[in-house]
Amino acid sequence: MSIIADDNDFLNTKPQEKKNPVVKTDANDNDRAFENSIRPKDFNSYIGQSNLLKHLKITIEASKKREKPLDHILFYGPPGLGKTTLAGVIGNEMGVPVKITSAPALERPRDIIGILMSLEENQILFIDEIHRLNKVAEEILYPAMEDFFLDMTTGKAQTVKTLRISLPKFTLIGATTKAGELSGPLRDRFGIVHRLEFYSPDELSKVIKRTAELLDIEIDEKSAYAIAKRSRGTPRIANRLIKRVSDYAIVKNDGKITEDIANKSLDILEIDEFGLDNTDRNLLRLIIEKYDGGPVGIETISAAIGEDSRTLEDVCEPYLLQCGLLQRTPRGRKVTPETYRHLGYKILNSNQQSLF
Ligand SMILES: Nc1ncnc2c1ncn2[C@@H]1O[C@H](COP(=O)(O)OP(=O)(O)OP(=O)(O)O)[C@@H](O)[C@H]1O
Ligand SMILES: [Mg+2]
Repeated sequence: MSIIADDNDFLNTKPQEKKNPVVKTDANDNDRAFENSIRPKDFNSYIGQSNLLKHLKITIEASKKREKPLDHILFYGPPGLGKTTLAGVIGNEMGVPVKITSAPALERPRDIIGILMSLEENQILFIDEIHRLNKVAEEILYPAMEDFFLDMTTGKAQTVKTLRISLPKFTLIGATTKAGELSGPLRDRFGIVHRLEFYSPDELSKVIKRTAELLDIEIDEKSAYAIAKRSRGTPRIANRLIKRVSDYAIVKNDGKITEDIANKSLDILEIDEFGLDNTDRNLLRLIIEKYDGGPVGIETISAAIGEDSRTLEDVCEPYLLQCGLLQRTPRGRKVTPETYRHLGYKILNSNQQSLF
């Protein structure tokens, strides 16, 4: 089997496409301030994830009727799909405050002890990136999650005493992009475990229209859908793209967003009709052109395209897997016939005839 690129040869004659930060799903400080300002606060404004929401609504109602705190909840899934947002929504729906922290901020035993002891009855503790909790913090958390107490030791050698401290009943909500890296015992202590799914273009259209309204940007159905289709199934990206499209419309069309304006501005951002950016395309082209479609290890890909392997695994891969443009095998990553088609390659059989 041989491959031919319809455009010029990427590895030999075509410079590697530059990185495009616009569609990355991780957030910097400015993005976070913007995100916090537009986060849905309740179930009514939280779009999509309908199965998950159905389940949560029942759980919340039952917990209110029993007058007991919610079971501990673990949310996992790719960045930008609404895990942190959902923790806030649950807090509002329960009518309880949410204390937010992340595992890297709980490095020393006193960090986690301090935060547990500061909780109020029924409060929600949200721990982001929970797969990064260290062993000591985890062990402190186990009895706190199971029976709401802390075992603390004081004194030294023969005078050592164990002190059992009761904690208020609380709900822990953990979020992670890497459920596989969570230790088994910690995972088992969550009564509710949910994976967040990528959003459909229809759902993302709603996200875009909602954000546009909050930002006082006028947008019609078709333009919202055009942006939604290229938002990688991710509300965080949809929210960023609407701002970029609005900027383009201000400069080129007196601020009026049309479908054509939306598509043109997304073309300029080099986001294709699948929502792929340059990093995604570089990754896929590398596998096709240098490794005959794969399989190839993620570290090799990372070194070749100069992108951190964690970013590739957390941000690029989940969406490429979801689109069917990439496969994970025990021997590494492989592309699919759809990848060749999407990037404009032809696969030839032994008679040099195109297979599609
Ligand atoms: N279901 C939703 N409806 C409307 N907007 C949403 C929804 N989910 C997420 N968003 C928006 O997307 C942005 C990112 O969501 P959020 O911060 O909750 O993602 P996350 O899953 O916690 O990401 P990370 O893994 O990077 O922490 C927020 O600004 C939020 O407003
Ligand atoms: Mg988050």
